[in-house]
Amino acid sequence: MTDEQGESLRPAVVVVGASRGIGRAIAKVAAREGATVVLVARSSDGLSAAANDVKAAGGQAFTFSLDLLATDASRRLQDFLTANSLVCDVLVNSAGYGLRGPATTLPIADQLGIVDVNVRALTDMTLHFLPGMVARGRGGVLNLGSIAGFTPGPNMALYYASKAFVRSFSEALHQEVKSTGVAVTCVAPGPVATEFLEKSGAGRAALFKILPKLSSDYVAERAWSGFKSSRRLVVPGLSAKLAAFVASSLPATVKVRLIGRLQRRSRDLCPCGSGKPFKECCGSRKARRGGI
Ligand SMILES: NC(=O)c1ccc[n+]([C@@H]2O[C@H](COP(=O)([O-])OP(=O)(O)OC[C@H]3O[C@@H](n4cnc5c(N)ncnc54)[C@H](OP(=O)(O)O)[C@@H]3O)[C@@H](O)[C@H]2O)c1
Repeated sequence: MTDEQGESLRPAVVVVGASRGIGRAIAKVAAREGATVVLVARSSDGLSAAANDVKAAGGQAFTFSLDLLATDASRRLQDFLTANSLVCDVLVNSAGYGLRGPATTLPIADQLGIVDVNVRALTDMTLHFLPGMVARGRGGVLNLGSIAGFTPGPNMALYYASKAFVRSFSEALHQEVKSTGVAVTCVAPGPVATEFLEKSGAGRAALFKILPKLSSDYVAERAWSGFKSSRRLVVPGLSAKLAAFVASSLPATVKVRLIGRLQRRSRDLCPCGSGKPFKECCGSRKARRGGI
C-alpha cells in the first residue's frame, strides 16, 4: 500500500479502547496473526501493558494516548498513523462505558459522556476510516455493541440506548459495504468479566448477577473470527444468544418492567427527585398501595 506521494504504508489493526478489557484481548488475538497493532486509549500504563501483550503474541505494537472526548479525535489518530507510515486496515471500536441508576438521578454530564464515547466517537472513527477501506477493497470495522442493544434498559437507559445505536449503525453499514470486500461486524456480548462491570455499577444489579460472565479472551476470539468471516452480528456464548433472543421477542411492556426491576437496587435514589432512597419513597409498600 502507498500514499499519494508513493510512500509505502503498513496496514494496521487500530484498536480504540485497548488499554484493558475486551479491546486489549482483541489486540492480542490480532497480534497472533502477526499484525501491526495500534493501541489507543487514555491510560499510558494500560497501553504499555497491552503493547507487551501484543509483542508477546507475535505482533508489532504502537501506542497512542487519546481521549475520545476530544472533538478532533479521529483527525489526531489519522495524524499519528500518517506520521508512522501506517494505514488503518482494520478498526476495532471497543472504548465505551455505562452507568447504572435512574437517568433522573445520574449526573447529566456523565450521561452525555456515554453518548460522546459510545456513539459520537465510534461514529466519527468509523466514518473517518471506512471510506479508505472501501477504496482499497479490504479490511473493515469491528464495533463493540452489547446484548443491551436489543432492548430499552430502564436504570441504565443511556447505555442501552447507545448500544442500540451501535447495533443499528453497524448492521446498516455491513449491508452498504458488503459487496466491496470490506466487513462491518457488530459484536454483542452479554456480561464480560472486565472493569466495566464494577465501574458502571452494573455488576451489582441482579440482572448481571444472573447472567454468566464470559472472559474477555473468549469474547475476543469469537469477535475476531466472526469479523474475519464478515459476519454482520456476533453474539458470543449460549447465554448471551438466549438473552438476546428473549430481549428481541418479549413485548416491550413486559421487558422494560422486568429489566427495570432487575437493574434497580433498593439503595438507588428515587427517580422522583425526592433525594430519598427508592425503597423509602415511591418504592415503599405504602407508596405501592397508593398511600403517597
Ligand atoms: N464488560 C461487559 O460486560 C461488556 C458487555 C457488553 C459490551 N461491552 C462493551 O465492550 C466494550 C469494551 O468494554 P470492556 O468491558 O472492555 O470495558 P473496560 O474494561 O472498562 O475498557 C474500556 C476501554 O475503553 C477506553 N475508554 C473509555 N473511555 C475512553 C475515552 N474517553 N477515551 C479513550 N478511551 C476510553 C478505556 O481506556 P482508558 O480508560 O485507558 O481511556 C478502556 O480501554 C465497551 O464498548 C462496552 O460497552 C462490555
